[in-house]
This record gives sequence, C-alpha cells and structure tokens, in this order.
Amino acid sequence: MLGRSTIQSKESLISANLEDKVAFITGVARGQGRAHAVKLASLGADIIGIDICKDVDSMDYPNATPDDLDETVRLVNAEGGRMVGRIADVRDPSGLAEAFSEGHAEFGRLDIVIANAGIIRLTDSDDRGAVWRDIIDTNLTGVWNTIEAALPALREGGRGGSVVITSSSAGLKGTGSEVAGSQAYTAAKRGLVGLMQTLANQYAPEWIRVNTIHPTGVVSGMTVNETMEKLSAAAAAGEASGLAAMQNALPIPILQAADIANAVAWLVSEEAKFITGIALPLDAGFAVR
Ligand SMILES: NC(=O)c1ccc[n+]([C@@H]2O[C@H](COP(=O)([O-])OP(=O)(O)OC[C@H]3O[C@@H](n4cnc5c(N)ncnc54)[C@H](O)[C@@H]3O)[C@@H](O)[C@H]2O)c1
Repeated sequence: MLGRSTIQSKESLISANLEDKVAFITGVARGQGRAHAVKLASLGADIIGIDICKDVDSMDYPNATPDDLDETVRLVNAEGGRMVGRIADVRDPSGLAEAFSEGHAEFGRLDIVIANAGIIRLTDSDDRGAVWRDIIDTNLTGVWNTIEAALPALREGGRGGSVVITSSSAGLKGTGSEVAGSQAYTAAKRGLVGLMQTLANQYAPEWIRVNTIHPTGVVSGMTVNETMEKLSAAAAAGEASGLAAMQNALPIPILQAADIANAVAWLVSEEAKFITGIALPLDAGFAVR
C-alpha cells in the first residue's frame, strides 16, 4: 500500500494521479513492461497485462517466464494495484483479444494502452528469413494486434485515452548492420512511427492520444543476457559490432527501466493531455550524437 498512499499527497494529486484508470500493457512480465505496470499501479491504476512467457526459436536470448509474470502481479499488488495477468502472444490476435477481454470484464474500463512487447536478435543466423519474420510479426504486427484488441474498449469508454507504442532509438536512426535481426528491428520500430501517426490523426477527435517512445539502451532481459555480454566483450575488444555505434551523448551508458516508466507515467497522464502524434526520444541524447 506504500505506493498508493503517496498519491494522497497534494503534489501527487496535482501531477500524475491515475486513480481509477486501467492500463493494458504487453510484455509485462519483466523489464520495461513490468516497470510500467508497477509505476502506473503506484499512481493508482489497475493493470491488464500479458506476456508470451515462452522462448521463440529464432531468438538468441530467453523471453520471460510464468514466474516472472507472477512476480509482476505481486509487485503491482504490493503497490495496492489490482492486476489481471495472462499468458498471451501478441502474434496471436485471438489469444490476445481473449486475454484483454478477461481483464476488461474484470475492471470494466480502459484508459491506457502500452504496446511494449518486443524482441531483437543482434547475432546472425542460418535462417535469416525466420529472424526477419519473427521480429516483424512481434514488433510491428504485434503492436497492431494489441491496438486492434484494445481500441474498441478505449473508444467505447468515451473518455479519450492514451496509447503509448514502444519503439526504440533504432526507430529514429538506423545504424549500419548486415545482421537480419538488426535490419528487421529497425524497420519494425520505424514502421511503428507511421502507425502511430495514422492512429493519432484518426482518433484525435475522440481525445485518444497516440505517441511512440524511443528509448536508448535499457537494462532488461533484452540487454542483460549471455549473448549481449559476448557482443559487448567483442565491441570492447574493437571487433566490428553494431554495439560500438550505440552510444549516448549524456555520459550514461544505459538507462534503467524505471527511467522509461517515469517518463511514460507523465505521457499517459492529464499533464500531457495535449501531446499526441509525437515520437518521443527517451535516449540520453543518442539521437543527436
Ligand atoms: N532494452 C533496450 O535496450 C531497449 C531499447 C529500446 C527499445 N526497447 C524496446 O522496449 C520494449 C521492452 O523491452 P525490454 O527492454 O523490457 O526487454 P525484455 O526482453 O526484458 O522484455 C520484453 C518482454 O516482451 C515479452 N515478449 C516477447 N515476445 C512476445 C510476444 N510475442 N508476445 C507477448 N510478449 C512477448 C518477453 O517475454 C519480455 O517479457 C521492446 O519493445 C523493446 O524492443 C528496448
């Protein structure tokens, strides 16, 4: 209850009070998705969250587990929030819609969508086509599926709402790479900007705001794993690696998931009620470097 009690303070009531709001978050079992769930719950929101909780063959690092999802639910509850957490794959529209509907039936409303689930592969593969397809299916089509599942409920509410799509610094600036996963990741993340602009224009009359966020490197399961350690070591040894080109302007090598969640808590709040259609770098100056 510690987090909820903080919203009683005058300052918090003026800023990002999300009491009675409901957020739908994908990729919620760990990393940034979990950080969003916990942060929004601390500000009063209830959470509908899904995660695949299963590995994907073409990836070179593991996805989250069912235990990770349980831990997110526990952390949300510890903030005084309620959470419907389900295992679902953003590539599977019917499973996704079913999971969302269960949460929506439980809480009876929807205000916020955070389309966050995503994968990457920075090592090459014998099956480049499979890597390309899985990344596009998850990071681009999966986001479209997420919004398809949730938008009718957002519109029916008639209170407007906020959709945040997690792109990447790669969605604003491509770095050279012969790796299929890197090419697909950049293409998908850039594609999300086009999707965001289309939806932002379409639903602005209903006060539904749609924005992309573009984080630089963030500590999460995507960046802290055996494969990434090997790539970092290779980059440090001067070997050609996509990682060598990924540096921020501010002297901070990597952000924490909570840094991204803090910015998103503002973006979905009333304080940002006039912000729509923007591609917001959360990138320690990566884009200007
Ligand atoms: N970590 C970074 O450096 C970084 C930087 C910029 C953008 N991003 C983006 O941030 C988002 C969150 O990633 P993260 O950093 O928290 O990494 P992460 O790997 O810790 O979290 C991603 C989550 O998505 C889940 N997921 C993967 N495929 C799924 C699917 N098909 N259906 C449902 N869930 C699925 C995973 O199980 C995992 O829990 C991603 O879209 C990623 O591309 C990450």
